[in-house]
Amino acid sequence: MSAEENLRLFFALWPDADTRAQLAQTGKWLHKHWDGRRMSADSLHLTLAFLGDTPTSRLEALLSVAAGVHAGSFELKLDQAGCWPHNKVGWLGAQTVPAELTRLVDQLAWALEGNHFPFDKRPFVPHVTVLRKAECSAPPECRPIVWPATQFALVTSTTQQTGVRYTVLREWPLFDTAKSE
Ligand code: 2AM
Repeated sequence: MSAEENLRLFFALWPDADTRAQLAQTGKWLHKHWDGRRMSADSLHLTLAFLGDTPTSRLEALLSVAAGVHAGSFELKLDQAGCWPHNKVGWLGAQTVPAELTRLVDQLAWALEGNHFPFDKRPFVPHVTVLRKAECSAPPECRPIVWPATQFALVTSTTQQTGVRYTVLREWPLFDTAKSE
C-alpha cells in the first residue's frame, strides 16, 4: 500500500503587481527597523484559510468547493505595521477589516467545514507577513497601502533547497459590488 500524496494548501488574497511592489517597499522599510529575513516579493500574500497537508485526490473536490464561494470585491487598507515577539513575525495589517473580507473568510470556513476539509480554526487575524526572525520593537510610521481585492486564490506551498515556494493553483473572482446592486 503506497502512502497517499499530499499538497500543502491554503487560500489567500494574492496581490496584483502594484500592491505587491508597495508591500515589498514597506517590507524593506520595516527591515531597516526590525532586521530579520525579508519575505521575497513574489511570496507576499494574505492567508484566508490554512488547510495544510491535503490529499491530492481531494484537489478536484476542493476546487469545486471554492468555485461555490460567492463574495464581493473590496479595498483593503493596510494601515498598521506590527511585530509579534512570540514568533518574530513582522507584518502589515488593517485597523478596519472590511465586512466583505470577513464574509469571504466566513464563507470559505463554512464551505470547508461542510465538505470535511480540515483547516486551521484559530481566529482569523488578517496580516501580510513581510519579515521573519524580526527583532521586534515599537512599530515605525508606515505609508498606508490600499489593496484592491478582486479575486482569491488557492496556493500550494513546497519546500525547496532555496526555501519555501508558493504557487497559485487557481484564482476565483470576487464579484463587483458596484454592479450587483
Ligand atoms: P504566517 O505568514 O503568519 O506564518 C503559508 O504558510 C501561509 O499560511 C502563511 O501566510 C502563514 O501565516 C499561514 N498559516 C496559517 N496557519 C498556519 C499554520 N498552522 N501553519 C503554517 N502556516 C500557517
